[in-house]
Amino acid sequence: MQVSPKKIVVLATGGTLAGIAADPGDNIGYRAAQLGIDQVLAAIPALDGLAIQAEQVAQIDSKDMSFEVWRALALRCGHWLGQDDVAGLVITHGTDTLEETAFFLQSVLAPAKPVVLTAAMRPATALLADGPQNIVDAVAVASTPGASGVVAVCAGVIHSAFDVAKQHSYRLDAFTSGDAGVIGYVEEGRVRLSRDWPAGTAQPGLLDALAAVAPWPWVEIVTSHAGAGRAVIDALVAQGIDGLVVAATGNGTVHQEMEMAVREAQACGVKVLRATRCAQGRILAQPGDGLPDAGALSPVKARIALLLELLRTPAPA
Ligand code: SIN
Repeated sequence: MQVSPKKIVVLATGGTLAGIAADPGDNIGYRAAQLGIDQVLAAIPALDGLAIQAEQVAQIDSKDMSFEVWRALALRCGHWLGQDDVAGLVITHGTDTLEETAFFLQSVLAPAKPVVLTAAMRPATALLADGPQNIVDAVAVASTPGASGVVAVCAGVIHSAFDVAKQHSYRLDAFTSGDAGVIGYVEEGRVRLSRDWPAGTAQPGLLDALAAVAPWPWVEIVTSHAGAGRAVIDALVAQGIDGLVVAATGNGTVHQEMEMAVREAQACGVKVLRATRCAQGRILAQPGDGLPDAGALSPVKARIALLLELLRTPAPA
């Protein structure tokens, strides 16, 4: 591993990486988010002697990720990224919503230093736990000169926050970058790049807006499918929803019954975005599209994009 003269800060949020099972042979019957980050790091001899500072930001199973944890995480990232003696950050996370947190942080921070999310598919008590190697790899990426942006590192592969998605419910190599391809690989502590680090510009004032906002805008995802209708959308609009992402079929098509309700919601001031429910590809816009599309963003990432848009420009009361 390249040893940086600056320190790496590890921000912990829980997940399977900090999970324990009663039986070491049990890779699925465990409780996530049980070990503190100091315990997790102390069990990894490869990190001995490295300049690492750890902070427990949350302790949750990432299926329960909340706006409050996102807010705390974004603010702690902002704090540490501003310190001259910090080379980069590692965030330990559950695999289940890692892609959402990665996209959220990239959208809010667009950091010039690396912010590396990592996770595990097996609990810390497993016969062959994957968490320790993933953390070592994440520290290597966060220490790499020239690295920047929010990325995810799992099973030796580096994914951009824009493209990463969990694709497998059990395999150790659970993430994909789809059509975009991976950023690179971590091999024996060295990074081999295949494309550029994620780039972008943080929206001025967005972090401050996040710190202050309460409650966050309400954005839901509805899926268009065989037999889809309007009832769910009408109920959400009646409840005062701010934004709606339609997980659309193929190139962004929506069942005609549902589409009618979505257009009416849009006319009432609800912000609408279509995202394809296909695992690969993007929506290719066509002339006359009445409902805006999220391009290559998956429905869960389109929801975050819409949330942040609403945060920047709150809907009129
Ligand atoms: C979680 O997402 O926190 C639990 C599942 C996992 O980390 O793989």
